[in-house]
Amino acid sequence: MTVGFALPFNTMPVPAKASSETIDKAADIIRSGGLAAFPTETVYGLGADATNGEAVARIFEAKGRPRFNPLIVHLAAREDAEGLAVFNEDARRLADAFWPGALTLVLPRREDARLSDLVSAGLPTVALRVPANKTARTLIRAAGVPIAAPSANRSGRVSPTRAEHVAADLGHRVDMILDGGPCAEGLESTIIGLSGPEPVLLRAGAVTRESIETVLGQPLADGRAATQPQAPGMLAAHYAPRAALRLDAEAPEEGEAYLGFGPAPPCEGPNLNLSESGDLREAAANLFAFLRLLDAQNPETLAVAPIPGHGLGEAINDRLRRAAAPR
Ligand code: TXA
Ligand code: MG
Repeated sequence: MTVGFALPFNTMPVPAKASSETIDKAADIIRSGGLAAFPTETVYGLGADATNGEAVARIFEAKGRPRFNPLIVHLAAREDAEGLAVFNEDARRLADAFWPGALTLVLPRREDARLSDLVSAGLPTVALRVPANKTARTLIRAAGVPIAAPSANRSGRVSPTRAEHVAADLGHRVDMILDGGPCAEGLESTIIGLSGPEPVLLRAGAVTRESIETVLGQPLADGRAATQPQAPGMLAAHYAPRAALRLDAEAPEEGEAYLGFGPAPPCEGPNLNLSESGDLREAAANLFAFLRLLDAQNPETLAVAPIPGHGLGEAINDRLRRAAAPR
């Protein structure tokens, strides 16, 4: 596959600070069928023109995704989303409450939607999100096309929340990396399925289950077990650091690195604290970056403090369980 913006072999793109010029350049790359990584408020995305099948195929190639899993399509405005998918009453309510923001809606795809079939992996549904991050919104508007973007990491690795993470993982596989600083939320978007008889939670994420249930006025069914095809973020072994993980560890054992939460026990080895004050929002924003930092110390085992399960704790614990799953 030839792409105009492919860099010479071996050239590592250095993240470019987001500015109107660099955003325009990234938009050109995307319009020309290339790949540009960009910040969102959740994690960095690996973006391509969602209407261009070859460009979308490059995403899977760059990530080393074993098979074609459906991607989230990023839009600048709600009206653009309504041109691609059918919104029911629940979808409208959720979009009103949480867009722009960290919520993805899986909706019936319109037959005339101008999107590559590869984006939704041949499914009759499509995942849509209007991000809040300013660089992301400016980029989508400048590109003038919907942008398909998974998290900008190699398949199965920890999601990137800094431009340097993208450079370390994907290096020369992307044409450009826009640097918008650390991601404010640090966890992927929450995914709600709205194509069946009732709304289902497909992936816990940066918008809490509780706040969604309040808007819907009903509890969310759990769609995670039933989803076909299995989303990569739903596979057991995902978000995997090199080290083995030991969860719910009140304190580290000898030789372990320790990821704390709240008041921390005394610790000899490499250690970081997700939030000394026990703030789940702060912990979410730090989670992936801290997993990477501790993993870089090459511990055999990384022990992780217990994290409460409410609010953002649901998504944090979900990611930790996947990172700890046997591989
Ligand atoms: O925060 C996020 O959601 C980030 C940023 C970049 O937007 N994106 C992200 O994308 O996490 P990704 O590809 O790593 O995860 C998207 C998830 C996948 O698990 C995929 O299987 C699921 O969304 N998905 C996409 N389309 C779907 C569909 N039509 N039905 C069910 N699941 C779908
Ligand atoms: Mg991902």
